[in-house]
Amino acid sequence: MATLRRIVIPEFMFGLDAIDQCGNYASNLGAKNVLLVTDRGVSETGLIEPIVNSLMSYDINFNIFDNVTPNPKDYEVMEGSELFLRKKCDSVVAVGGGSPIDCAKGIAIVSSNGGHIRDYEGVDMIPEPIVPMICIPTTSGTSADVSQFAIITNTEEKYKMAIISKMVVPDIALIDPQTLLTMDSSLTAATGMDALTHAIEAYVSKASSDYTDMHALDAVRLIKKNLELCINDLGNIEYRTNMMRASLEAGVAFSNASLGAVHAMAHSLGGLLDLPHGECNAVLLPHVIRHNFINSPDKYMNIAKIFGFSGDILDLESGKKFLIESIFNLNSNIGIKKGIGELGAGINDLKQLSEKSVNDPCMITNPKELDAYEVSKIYKESY
Ligand SMILES: [Fe+2]
Repeated sequence: MATLRRIVIPEFMFGLDAIDQCGNYASNLGAKNVLLVTDRGVSETGLIEPIVNSLMSYDINFNIFDNVTPNPKDYEVMEGSELFLRKKCDSVVAVGGGSPIDCAKGIAIVSSNGGHIRDYEGVDMIPEPIVPMICIPTTSGTSADVSQFAIITNTEEKYKMAIISKMVVPDIALIDPQTLLTMDSSLTAATGMDALTHAIEAYVSKASSDYTDMHALDAVRLIKKNLELCINDLGNIEYRTNMMRASLEAGVAFSNASLGAVHAMAHSLGGLLDLPHGECNAVLLPHVIRHNFINSPDKYMNIAKIFGFSGDILDLESGKKFLIESIFNLNSNIGIKKGIGELGAGINDLKQLSEKSVNDPCMITNPKELDAYEVSKIYKESY
């Protein structure tokens, strides 16, 4: 009998020119004065222009907040919320990768509920619904546009807070593969590996279900088939569309099944050392699989089959070796750095990182219970 599960997904529009619907949807949500949250990288690509034009065609005023950095910080959320209230905004439009979207979620939480963003850490800690929000992703990886997660760095204590609540699911996500055409190969690689990690961790999560498994496996298939092709042909809209769909499916899966040790450990690296999220996941993923495999062998064997394993399905050792090698090869083919040392972690940081990782909420659903000692072993192997 199937276990009872709650599934939350937002309304979304997927396809070419979806971003042109921004004004229409904002108008339907009653928006008159929008805070448009983005980052400077996105502003410089010109992606904001069609969105602004769409808002203006519905006579909707807008104010831009682009003071958002990778691994968005608590003080950026507070600054954005102060601007939202000062300009008397009534809704939020988030445009960008995971950082602007997570920051926009934080701004919407504080603008509706008051207090400080640090008050809302944890699961279901947001009492009042947030202001109307539209999310427009411009990378194919983070899926913050469809998830119940907002990850914000607590800069006082140097760790990433997970805010998990259906309140942070936007009113609508406008998912347009054309926005991906501005991504270079390294961003395409890092965000693609973030999506692959979402899919694999959701699939083997202790909170997975038939519904999330279906989306997770489809995402793995799409990424296996399209990520390298995409990196070798960045302007190909078919590969971009497939990667955007993979990101969406992985997002639906992890938003409802949660994640695991790779994300717990990547969050610690991002919170303490401000390292890039997607690359941290990519580097850690094969090492975590080595430790987790035996706790979810059937599922990991299914993933190995998608990666091309054709040996005896009962030969777990060969399947595990094949899968780990496949991910190392994929990382190498798409230019991911070799270890967390090369990414910027110091060997003396590993003890503190391990202690922080075991307290990350993503660790709860990892198929294997890991203590700080085993996590530190994984960090060392990933170094
Ligand atoms: Fe992620």
